[in-house]
Amino acid sequence: MSQGPEPLAQPGGAQPGDPGGVDMRTVADLMREEERAFEAAHPLSKQSYERGLGCFLYGAPMHWMQQWPGPYPITVADAHGARLTDVDGNEYVDFALGDTAAMFGHANPVVAEAVCTQIGRGSTMMLPTEDAAWVGEELARRFGLPYWQVTTSATDANRFVIRLCRMFTGRDKIVTFNWNYHGSVDETQVEFDETGAMVPRTGVHPNAVHHESTTRLVEFNDVAGLEEALAHGDVACVLTEPLLTNIGMVPALPGFHDALRRLTREHGVPLVIDETHTISTGPGGYTRAHGLEPDFLVVGKSLAGGIPVAVWGASQDMAERIWRVLPHFRTGEAINHFGFGGTLAGSALQMAAIRATLERVMTDETFARMAGRAERFEQGVLGVFARRRLPWHVTRIGARVEYLFRPDPPRNGGEAHHARHPVLEACIHLYLLNRGVLLTPFHNMALMCPFTTDEDVDLHTRLLDGCLAEIV
Ligand SMILES: Cc1ncc(COP(=O)(O)O)c(C=O)c1O
Repeated sequence: MSQGPEPLAQPGGAQPGDPGGVDMRTVADLMREEERAFEAAHPLSKQSYERGLGCFLYGAPMHWMQQWPGPYPITVADAHGARLTDVDGNEYVDFALGDTAAMFGHANPVVAEAVCTQIGRGSTMMLPTEDAAWVGEELARRFGLPYWQVTTSATDANRFVIRLCRMFTGRDKIVTFNWNYHGSVDETQVEFDETGAMVPRTGVHPNAVHHESTTRLVEFNDVAGLEEALAHGDVACVLTEPLLTNIGMVPALPGFHDALRRLTREHGVPLVIDETHTISTGPGGYTRAHGLEPDFLVVGKSLAGGIPVAVWGASQDMAERIWRVLPHFRTGEAINHFGFGGTLAGSALQMAAIRATLERVMTDETFARMAGRAERFEQGVLGVFARRRLPWHVTRIGARVEYLFRPDPPRNGGEAHHARHPVLEACIHLYLLNRGVLLTPFHNMALMCPFTTDEDVDLHTRLLDGCLAEIV
């Protein structure tokens, strides 16, 4: 991944993307054709969506589900391993894998067995089971942080860590990076506008959150900007992914993580690393693979093989600071909600699913297999771009691959955002979908699961080539 010599783009300075070499009129024509083909092949999905419009606020149980390319979402009948079938009988190779939640394969038999067994023995008692201690010890071993808590989503885990950091630092703001995504965490729903001002994220209502009092926003890889933000002395924590993964992929430049750790330590600011997506790197995530030293670590989504869960871990130092403001509860004292947690968090079902996933799925061998497929995917796409003379690049983090319409990886979220081309993206995605391949909506991300085959990968490569042959 080569890096250009020019200085980092500053907030508001990035230029709109140019998908170079693509004829956008042809794209529009192709899109119309693909939409017609989609409608012809998905009459039952249409019926199902039309019913949804009558009872769901946005036509589906969660509004993102209707944001796939095409006039309406497919309705799923069945999903196994790397494959998915819709109610119209169409089959797909699924590279979206529930946007990472199903990264270890749909209906993974190991997890399915553990979950079925545990449901038969009680799924939620608000008490620990014997799986809990095993899971806690394994998380500590794997990620190198001694103390853990379980939540039902990564959003919750991030919210709770921010809340705790505020409590024990006595500071109000968080630092986060432009075009981050950490779930629907209020403090993170911001972006830079074209003038470099921090504004609510596009499409997110301000929600009566006064972001000026909750957030300092910095471009990823911008060490000077980070230093300036921390110098105010009002930052409770820095929350970041090891590299940005939700606006295409934005890799950390050499030295960025060292600077991030040095500066946060110098300013006494806890560093929270969110590995929810970058766990694709390997069994201990990017953190272990690259020797990062976070104060808090969050992982969600795939950790329980598709059962809703996330965990957050704290260093010894952070745990001691938390205990000072929130001491261990003792019987006989008034109940203390602590301001975080959840009735279903840490349930017997979650713990059985996490244990099965950590013990028998998230192994070195599984990750090696997934990375092998991902490398093939990366090489295949690079070959297509070379053949079609397209100045675009591919980034890969273990099992996760992403292509973006610019020559080099972007160096910050602003650059990545401007390199996106939603119309072109939607056209490529719909072309693939109509021929049996699903990419993650919103960007060109493909994940390999343990069941993804070389043939699956090669199918994507052939189809991408076919699509680009029509529009370049
Ligand atoms: C890095 C990261 N953190 C947190 C989340 C939120 O996860 P959840 O939707 O499970 O709360 C996401 C979701 O995409 C994510 O990408």
